[in-house]
Amino acid sequence: MISSSLLRSSRLLASSLRPAARTLATAAAAEAKPVAMKKFQIYRWNPDTPEKKPELKTYEVDLNSTGPMILDAILRIKNEQDSTLTFRRSCREGICGSCAMNIDGRNTLACLCRIDKDTSKDTKIYPLPHMFVVRDLVPDLTQFYKQYKSIEPYLQRDNVPADGKENLQSIEDRKKLDGLYECILCACCSTSCPSYWWNSAEYLGPAVLMQAYRWMIDSRDQAGAARRARLENSMSLYRCHTIMNCSRTCPKGLNPGLAIAKIKKSMALA
Ligand code: SF4
Ligand code: SF4
Ligand code: FES
Repeated sequence: MISSSLLRSSRLLASSLRPAARTLATAAAAEAKPVAMKKFQIYRWNPDTPEKKPELKTYEVDLNSTGPMILDAILRIKNEQDSTLTFRRSCREGICGSCAMNIDGRNTLACLCRIDKDTSKDTKIYPLPHMFVVRDLVPDLTQFYKQYKSIEPYLQRDNVPADGKENLQSIEDRKKLDGLYECILCACCSTSCPSYWWNSAEYLGPAVLMQAYRWMIDSRDQAGAARRARLENSMSLYRCHTIMNCSRTCPKGLNPGLAIAKIKKSMALA
């Protein structure tokens, strides 16, 4: 008869062996996978050699030993093939907005964009379109942030709340901000907008306008009239022609085109 302590220790031994067996099985499966080389053509430009024109440089990566996202592939290229390849990234989970770039013709976040597994097709990666380029995939966002600053994107009130602490808001009023506050200011929408391409010196573009709207409809804010007055000219707002590239491209699924339409409506009714 087997004693209960002997049974317990044999179960313990079996469970401690299971993870090791799993690891071996995973490694064997990975080894068995065939190599799947995929070409990435990436925009390169170096400000230190201005006499050299921008070019598309081709790199090859084995998809079976690389993570599933475009950011995984370009990190791999930077780490293993070409440390001079320059791009922004931080959170790798669609929160910081820094890895925005144009991938196979669409503005999106490299960390949220799955690699197309079709190895017969090259993937082309460019910086966000119609922006000055700092280097390789890094656009110059100076004007974009200047415009964001111009809408004064913060709560403005003439008085402090009665309890001297918090500006309270009803659940219904808070809900009105859904679909607006989630914007991560990646600039994918603004740089997909033809009106912004040609008028970015004056037209605020969809990302900034959506944030302007976010503050206009915040029940706690008291600067609505000044916010509307800033947009009351032919360029800041009315260069939007409802082409809707912005809403189609937003990697967070937001709808800046709709927010702009709502600003126009509120301005017409004010
Ligand atoms: S609206 Fe979407 S695409 Fe535009 S900046 Fe915000 S998150 Fe990016
Ligand atoms: S809807 Fe307006 S902001 Fe959006 S892409 Fe079209 S013109 Fe640009
Ligand atoms: S790395 Fe932060 S959004 Fe992609």
